[in-house]
Amino acid sequence: MHALDSPIAFFDSGVGGLPYLEAARRLLPAERFVYLADRAGFPYGTKAAEEVRARAVGAVRALVAKTGPKAVVIACNTATELAVDAVRDDNPGLIVVGTVPAIKPAAALSRARRIGVVATEAAVAADYLTGLASAWAADCELVRIGDATLVEFVERRLLGSTRDERLRAVAPSVGAMLERGVDAIVLGCTHFLHLSEEFASVAGPDVAIVDSRDGVAARLASRLTEEGLLRTCDGRGAGGSPDRLFLTGPGDPGPVYGGFAERFGLSWAGCLP
Ligand code: DGL
Repeated sequence: MHALDSPIAFFDSGVGGLPYLEAARRLLPAERFVYLADRAGFPYGTKAAEEVRARAVGAVRALVAKTGPKAVVIACNTATELAVDAVRDDNPGLIVVGTVPAIKPAAALSRARRIGVVATEAAVAADYLTGLASAWAADCELVRIGDATLVEFVERRLLGSTRDERLRAVAPSVGAMLERGVDAIVLGCTHFLHLSEEFASVAGPDVAIVDSRDGVAARLASRLTEEGLLRTCDGRGAGGSPDRLFLTGPGDPGPVYGGFAERFGLSWAGCLP
């Protein structure tokens, strides 16, 4: 039984899901949220599919046991592409919302019929992406770029970076896609949403930068509505209890996760196995 006032749980391999949490909060201000960064499993994008599946199933099990959520958002393209079915099979009856590259909106915007997708190596190679492309962008050329270095940059060095460093970090991927004539770029790794503005700046005004955060928030709202689980009055209580951050692996959040927690209004709640 998933009660109306249970929290909504987000998870990612690291800090990538935070812009998705922010979009969901904007749309659903009465809900309470918990967030798990699978720090011990980071990065997912260079791991074998089997390992990502095991991490994702384990992370959701730990979240369910600790927080009893009414819905789980897999705020990670790699985990969704490789493990959404496994997570659903493991949690019958629980709302599980995935995150996949926003190919459909990009196809609606591209005049050149050439779309770039920048994501993890595992996500760009997954059959799931090929399926999305043939379903929504069959007449477009898809330029797939895997950028593990950029994932690492966001997770480890984003906080405290200069704008110049951020622009330099996105430049190789953007350059490779522009060379191939794309006029729409899909941010197909949730980590990259932290750099949306830098992507737009380097790509220039003629290239649309597309992501899935609003689509995922809307899907979450509609699944909650369908199940009669959408809160309409504030679930935080009079004290305004803050949303909680959990991490896998031992140790306190340190300056990086502590800094992200502060930036996204989360309070450190402990480690999960
Ligand atoms: N943020 C993740 C994604 O959307 C994966 C990053 C990683 O762990 O490699 O794919």
